[in-house]
Amino acid sequence: MRLDPFGQSYSTDPATVWRHLLDSGERVAYDDELDMWLIAGHELARTVLADPRRFSSATTLTPMQDPHADAAAILARLDMPPVTLNADAPTHTRTRAALAAVLATTSLRTEQRWADLVRRHAEHFADHLAHHLAATPWPDVDLVELFASRLPLSVLLDILGIPADDMARIAAWADNFAALFWGRLDDDEQISAANGLLALWDFCRDIVVLRAGTHQDGQPTGLIGDLVRYRNGDDNRLTLPETSALVLTLLIAGWESTAAALTHALEYALSDRIRWARLAADGHYASIHTEETLRHSPAIDAVLRVTTTDVDLDGILIPAGSRCLVLIGAANHDPGVFEQPGTFQPGRARLGQHLSFGAGPHACLGAALARLYLSTALSILARRLPNLTRADGFAHRYRTSASMRQHTSLPATLGPARCPVAHGQLPLVGQS
Ligand code: HEM
Repeated sequence: MRLDPFGQSYSTDPATVWRHLLDSGERVAYDDELDMWLIAGHELARTVLADPRRFSSATTLTPMQDPHADAAAILARLDMPPVTLNADAPTHTRTRAALAAVLATTSLRTEQRWADLVRRHAEHFADHLAHHLAATPWPDVDLVELFASRLPLSVLLDILGIPADDMARIAAWADNFAALFWGRLDDDEQISAANGLLALWDFCRDIVVLRAGTHQDGQPTGLIGDLVRYRNGDDNRLTLPETSALVLTLLIAGWESTAAALTHALEYALSDRIRWARLAADGHYASIHTEETLRHSPAIDAVLRVTTTDVDLDGILIPAGSRCLVLIGAANHDPGVFEQPGTFQPGRARLGQHLSFGAGPHACLGAALARLYLSTALSILARRLPNLTRADGFAHRYRTSASMRQHTSLPATLGPARCPVAHGQLPLVGQS
């Protein structure tokens, strides 16, 4: 059984392939069709992620497959400097310090700073969805389009200090971004995604230059303002292009991943009335439901590294210059760490050891914010629409990608209202 990131069977059921790789004993294996080393297993994934000197992140934002010549020509015009995600030390250390200084990275600070803002946006989109359902005679809505995708982007723009009026064009530019790097697009789609990325880069450059200008006489707002103040005109701290690149990184790292994770969490919640009811009633359940979703179905289930030297990993020699796909999903399904890894069990033992936010020096800087988004959105939607349910005939369909597991849609509808809380059917956590 091969890992074919662009095939239907891996797309719809990656866990079977992860299990096969873990059980086969070949946890470090070269795939000649992909021209990549596949790294499976929790311990090995942690080892690679913790070792940026031998496993570089420089190619993280390089298309996995050679793009069409016209798309490549467009991408060649992208003069965005590497920062955080696709940078190695010392640039990585310096630019990560800048982001860490302006982002609230602990859960307490994230709560204090952004809980109200996230709640306000979640209520707005939950109301919007409720009105949409009420206005449709045979309600059957797509939760990806109307909720899971819009909410994280609108929160992110508010946090950054970008006007909400810009949301539609930013969404259009950034759509297919992930697929351009880690998916498979036809020639026209590649060209359109590359043009979108270029337009988004121009937008980020312009807004940073504008805000840096306002710094002279007024206080630029939002996280962009915070970055401009952090830079304080000192290129040794952060250049202006690096500031713009950090804004673009936040938009691409913080949007689609959170939207994808929220859709997974909604799918698991809506597949079981008791889970849905418990989300409305119990904030602790919302956080363990979120965490188990992240472990069981990581939105980013693989990350790319390239070796800077010959490396002996688990007794196997990986030559210098090799691309390595670190399978986060396989790490999260390693039976040596998680019992019955294929079962969805909120509150399970060792839940905190999943690698869905990466590990080591590149570990996700938005993890606390993403957790806040997910648990707030789930609680609010479950309270606002207690009889929401998955539409009949739901089938798993994902965008093809070697890294990001994104539903193409999540159709939902209103079912008969019968709340298990009101009927005394809500079991204790761990009983489901
Ligand atoms: C559920 C949602 C999210 C998931 C699953 C996720 C996952 C990840 C993963 C796996 C990495 C490591 C990448 C690597 O090692 O190559 C990462 C890095 C990063 N994430 Fe997230 N992320 C999420 C949400 C966010 C949010 C909301 C933000 C910010 C608003 C964010 C900002 C970043 C940044 C800046 C990095 C780069 C850190 C570095 O390279 O030092 N992420 N994320």
